Amino acid sequence: MGLKASTQGKEAIAKAIKAQEFRLNGKNCPLQAVKESFGEELSETTWERFIYAKAPIREKNFNALCKILQLDPKNIAMRPEAHCFDSAPMQFRFYGREPELQALEHWIKRDRCRLILICGLDGIGKTWLAAKLTDKVHDRFDRSFSQDFSYAQPIREIIANLLRRVDSDFASGIDLHESLLNLRMRLIKALTDQRILITLNESWDDRDRLQDSYHQMQGWLLELSEKAHQSCVVMTTRIELDMPIIEKKVQSLKLGGLCESAIVQLLNDKGITCNLDSARRLGERYGGNPSALNLAVSLIIKHYGGDCEGFLSRTIMIPPSLEEIYRQHWDHLSETHKALLKQLAACQEALLKEELDVKLSAEVPASEIDLAVFDLERRSLLELVQEGSRSAYTLQPVLQRLIQRKKLV
Ligand SMILES: Nc1ncnc2c1ncn2[C@@H]1O[C@H](COP(=O)(O)OP(=O)(O)OP(=O)(O)O)[C@@H](O)[C@H]1O
Ligand SMILES: [Mg+2]
Repeated sequence: MGLKASTQGKEAIAKAIKAQEFRLNGKNCPLQAVKESFGEELSETTWERFIYAKAPIREKNFNALCKILQLDPKNIAMRPEAHCFDSAPMQFRFYGREPELQALEHWIKRDRCRLILICGLDGIGKTWLAAKLTDKVHDRFDRSFSQDFSYAQPIREIIANLLRRVDSDFASGIDLHESLLNLRMRLIKALTDQRILITLNESWDDRDRLQDSYHQMQGWLLELSEKAHQSCVVMTTRIELDMPIIEKKVQSLKLGGLCESAIVQLLNDKGITCNLDSARRLGERYGGNPSALNLAVSLIIKHYGGDCEGFLSRTIMIPPSLEEIYRQHWDHLSETHKALLKQLAACQEALLKEELDVKLSAEVPASEIDLAVFDLERRSLLELVQEGSRSAYTLQPVLQRLIQRKKLV
């Protein structure tokens, strides 16, 4: 499964980069040193996964990068048992999200929800929100832990990983031939016997294999929500899953951007002075996405000497890693999806449904338009704006600019 850095490991990596005066890219980047010392050509994606601990990377690559940074991989990598939020206090500065946390707490405490989906674009803050939630409600449960998953993993493996942590019989003698049905039943039993809070955290994916596992996953989640157990699974997912609401036992939260006051705090803590209006404009540019905002903050500090207004007076800057996220989405979209996004990108205003139909009528059969709109919205690539009683659609500025500048095609 590979290795990724723990929170402390991530900090040690950042310190080592600074102390050894490495750069994050280009000539004096550790990637270059790995190439020279080990003859391995690692990609920027691997590098980013390593420094930001976004996802596991191959052990060999992890060790090579640690060696270059003069770090002991054993002290840097996350230990499986440490990857649980159980009762650990939150170690990081957490901004905003009060209304979201209130809703989530409500669903757990009052409604005793069995399944909660936290959905949204890459970097929008799903994992952090789930961690904060665990911090707030873990005392209501016998135990709580977080488990990473990917849609590319076989569902059997995901369930087996959970069982290893919740079923001691299973953990001591894993029967690899046990049927999927049995594994599912065992898990429900464990979730019935104890009150467990599980955060199932989408950590990485292989979009090519998404379709199959996505449907399998949906079937299993339906079971988790229908069976009368006393636990709760909070799942973070980039794609909104289509789950029926069962007696309020299933809830789904589509995560939007950080609010203005949270953005002001985020900037102030990094030494950037900023008022509510600048925060609103910055938030609009980057969809309030904390990951993107952190990247923007680095640009403001590095190129604008901390002058937020100066940064905002220029045309939108899109850091390469942000562009890469959209490119990955784009590469897996159909021609219909792309045609629709291009039409929206060409308009300054949100388009009403009937306007969109007219603009696309020459390229796309009407029956496909609704499906494409629905799908793009689930992937957070398209925004729904309510204009009176009517729905209109628009794009976030970053995606709009990338399409306008023909960066994705
Ligand atoms: N509420 C918050 N306060 C402060 N920083 C935040 C907050 N939410 C997210 N962040 C920052 O944004 C980064 C991305 O957040 P997170 O990992 O939760 O996103 P995600 O939606 O789970 O992304 P992915 O889809 O890639 O898994 C975090 O590493 C953190 O730096
Ligand atoms: Mg996440």
